[in-house]
Amino acid sequence: MLKKTRYALVGSGHRGTTMWGRDLVERWAGEVELVAICDLNTMRAERSSRYMGVSVPIYRDFDRLLAVEKPDLVIVCTKDSTHDGVIVKAMEAGANVISEKPMTTTADKIKRILDAERRTGKRLDVSFNYRFAPTAAKIKELLNSGVIGSVTSVDFHWYLNTSHGADYFRRWHAFTENSGSLFVHKATHHFDLLNWYLGSDPQTVSAFADLKHYGHKGPLRGERCRTCRHKHECDYYFDIGKDRLLESLYEDPSSVDGYVRDACVFREDIDIPDTMVANIHYKNGVDVAYSLNTYMPIEGHHIAFNGQKGRIEMRQYEAQPWTEPPADEILLMRNFDGVERIWVPHFSGGHYGGDDRLRNMLLKPGLNDELQQRAGSRAGAMSVLCGIAALKSSRTGVPVAISDVWGDDQGLHLLDSTP
Ligand SMILES: NC(=O)c1ccc[n+]([C@@H]2O[C@H](COP(=O)([O-])OP(=O)(O)OC[C@H]3O[C@@H](n4cnc5c(N)ncnc54)[C@H](O)[C@@H]3O)[C@@H](O)[C@H]2O)c1
Repeated sequence: MLKKTRYALVGSGHRGTTMWGRDLVERWAGEVELVAICDLNTMRAERSSRYMGVSVPIYRDFDRLLAVEKPDLVIVCTKDSTHDGVIVKAMEAGANVISEKPMTTTADKIKRILDAERRTGKRLDVSFNYRFAPTAAKIKELLNSGVIGSVTSVDFHWYLNTSHGADYFRRWHAFTENSGSLFVHKATHHFDLLNWYLGSDPQTVSAFADLKHYGHKGPLRGERCRTCRHKHECDYYFDIGKDRLLESLYEDPSSVDGYVRDACVFREDIDIPDTMVANIHYKNGVDVAYSLNTYMPIEGHHIAFNGQKGRIEMRQYEAQPWTEPPADEILLMRNFDGVERIWVPHFSGGHYGGDDRLRNMLLKPGLNDELQQRAGSRAGAMSVLCGIAALKSSRTGVPVAISDVWGDDQGLHLLDSTP
């Protein structure tokens, strides 16, 4: 029998408690064993462990956890801007790491992580679950097959609806300091998909972005939904009491750290854009037109690869005001030769079925990774750098090279020798 990997969960919010908590305890028990939970808010960690049905030590002090529990693996599910601190300490203590996306939020933090990985020889995986969606795998196979010739441009548009999109504006994500903006927090998924699909690195980004709907642009505001006098008239009123897990993880524990799960989406001080477009030029010559909108009646994306010999196109939804067939359709068009309609069945599990496949790849030893879906620190870094460049371009009004974001001091060579 293989020895189980002893892991510690750091960050016991919704993502940690579900994706990397209860699911692993219940469905990956043959591979991993949860040995401790760490959270700055120990009341939330206690609620989390109760939900998981486990009885493991809870720590506020991560250094102590590392010294006492000596985990083989640390899974990082904290606020984005804190990932680097946890990752570096974990690797220095001899643990491998799985980090939730985005890997981190600034170029300096990326450098700290790459440096720690190099010094310690430990491995960092980044949870890019969308790569593992069966539709993404099919598109990657088609691109690899050369059926549309070399790709010259990509159209990629991502839509967040009034529920999921709004959720980012209720919490810490609404501030650049915490999330790097949605160009980093959310688009890290999309930029990573592009980098992986194209097998290349972004070189220059030119972007526009603005806050047009949430924050100070909203028609009315309060502090939080639960106490708001506008709850009967606001379209964005959100009752966390209707979700027992959210209520348990966030409501009472907010008395410890002031982190409320239903803060007003129209708070005056929100400083991230909600409407973003970017053009990205890749090293291999491909040009991408990208957009991200956050208050749509649909949740999903449209993507098309335009090649010298044809086009691959897909429209895929996670929520939409119509009934979708029980499969996603990929259109493969060869120039001068009609269309082939490829149907990929829907898979259960989050992120179009990507979450389960990702966890199998990271936790079950020896799985074949033909499509190179497993993503390490280099992929984590590249997608974050692309987001930082996009935000910078939108703020300065000029195109931004990735090498400028990275800084001239070290060039990009650090990244070049990172797996
Ligand atoms: N891959 C995906 O598709 C996906 C989906 C959802 C969330 N996520 C990621 O998961 C992470 C967590 O998301 P969430 O919604 O659960 O966030 P959350 O804010 O609700 O939970 C984070 C928890 O981390 C704790 N924390 C913060 N800093 C800490 C530190 N330095 N040490 C210990 N604990 C700390 C907080 O107290 C909180 O309990 C984020 O990075 C997010 O981007 C990824």
